Amino acid sequence: MRIFLTIYVFAIIAAVSILGFRGSISTKPPLEVFPDMDRQARYKPQAENEFFADGRNDRSVPAGTVARGNYFNQVEVFSEDFEDTRLGDTAFNQGKNADGSLVKKIPVEVSYELIQQGKEKYDIFCSACHGAAGDGNGVTKPYGVLAASYHDARLRSVEDGHIFDVITNGKGLMLPFNDRISPEERWAIVLYVRALQLSQNANVEELTSVQRTELGF
Ligand code: HEC
Repeated sequence: MRIFLTIYVFAIIAAVSILGFRGSISTKPPLEVFPDMDRQARYKPQAENEFFADGRNDRSVPAGTVARGNYFNQVEVFSEDFEDTRLGDTAFNQGKNADGSLVKKIPVEVSYELIQQGKEKYDIFCSACHGAAGDGNGVTKPYGVLAASYHDARLRSVEDGHIFDVITNGKGLMLPFNDRISPEERWAIVLYVRALQLSQNANVEELTSVQRTELGF
């Protein structure tokens, strides 16, 4: 009986001390058994900072800074003998010629590997809206995303630079991808989009005689 009473009283004290003070307000700092990383001395992005004359935390790059590569290839960029051969190459980086007009043809060497790379990236970044065949029938269609079909006559005749520009900067309701797809990968995707277009609209005249016989033309 005595043991029972001891446990009973102890249980009541424990219940009241754990549950009884819930919701009560205290001005004292809470007891932190494991503070982990709750409090850190740090600067938050876009916050104010009295230390700098303009009062901003975020610092702009010093005047005259020249971009060194990009963050897609960090290992190379920070290696001693890195040389960005494409720096200032507007055709490669923006899909535009120096006069601002769109480049007509893909400015990188076209290969089967590049198409395969393009397919991989297309499946990751584009197919959800544009569909695996590029006809605009992606899984997001039932939710109201009306992505363009690449098999429109207009999109078949646009410059390669236009598709690159749409991937880079977005268009209308489509989001830009310049922050997550490198220029090289964007050209690979452009190439794959061209391959998708050909898959639905190829000219028999462009096939070799062997290919024509194989296909029964
Ligand atoms: C979140 C959905 C979504 C994703 C992902 C997406 N697109 Fe689009 N895309 C759209 C929509 C919507 C349009 C129609 C834009 C408009 O005209 O308002 C469009 C239009 C286009 C066009 C036609 C532009 C024109 O001139 O009319 C191209 C080319 C294109 N997208 C390529 C791509 C490629 C390549 C990718 C992958 C890197 C991609 N899109 C990823 C939704 C998407």
